[in-house]
Amino acid sequence: MGGFWDEDNREAPSLVALYARGAWCAGRALLLNVRAVLSAATPRLWAAYALLNVAFPASSAYRICHWSREADVGAGPGELTYGETLFGSAIRILRHVQIRPGERVLELGAGRGIVALVAAIVFRADVHAFDVLWPFVRRGRLVARILCLSNLHWHRQDLATVSLENADVVYLAGTCLQEARRELVADHVQALKPGARIASVSEPIASVDLEELGELELDFSWGKSRVYFQQRRARTPEESGHRDDETRPRRSTESANSVSFRSILNEASSRNRTA
Ligand SMILES: C[S@@+](CC[C@H](N)C(=O)[O-])C[C@H]1O[C@@H](n2cnc3c(N)ncnc32)[C@H](O)[C@@H]1O
Repeated sequence: MGGFWDEDNREAPSLVALYARGAWCAGRALLLNVRAVLSAATPRLWAAYALLNVAFPASSAYRICHWSREADVGAGPGELTYGETLFGSAIRILRHVQIRPGERVLELGAGRGIVALVAAIVFRADVHAFDVLWPFVRRGRLVARILCLSNLHWHRQDLATVSLENADVVYLAGTCLQEARRELVADHVQALKPGARIASVSEPIASVDLEELGELELDFSWGKSRVYFQQRRARTPEESGHRDDETRPRRSTESANSVSFRSILNEASSRNRTA
């Protein structure tokens, strides 16, 4: 008799197997989040984590997506599937793009807004979080107000219509997006400032205006996924003024478990020295 993991058994997994997997993912996410939040040693981040759990008790973020009708918000099949970036991964992603205080960060399809909160609290960026579902936007605004985060702004907007013109960093966890919506996002890339960085989960953004900065395998609520880092190309040498790429991290394909941010930087600088 075939089981849940049996390759020959193409039948839908049993309810017990589904619940077991859900419980395993939730437990793993809880442990990893608590470890990352505590090790950040930032009391405001501890407060943000606690508040998120009050604003979204149990699995309510999943239920918000599950019970929202795709047709009501112009979403395609499966696009409202919920899953989230864990706190530790958010910190690694924002470090990898070498974010500086005051830089403008856009989180497209923000959900509970973990990346947005980490960017606003830990990196003191000017953050704009976008989601198509009102419950995320309303609760996100409330959490930002309670934490007195004047640098975190929530917008109810389709991510495919967001202008990328003034962004320094764009984050897209678009694993479940339809190809057509990813293409609409790619159409906005041309408007990015040269040197602006994009971090995209599961797939890079397909645009000739972007150059690759590397990739990392990181933890998400559903397991591990790759994050692709890209940077807006300089338009012309005259326009760019200076060689931005000398200060950016280079391509890295090592696992998040085996490599620290510092080792990525060291690797990049030693390569630059030998080049
Ligand atoms: C996979 S979750 C990612 C949540 C968050 N970015 C994270 O990484 O923790 C995707 C989110 O995108 C939102 N979403 C889906 N389609 C969207 C669209 N067209 N415009 C804006 N948000 C969208 C969903 O409501 C959901 O909150």
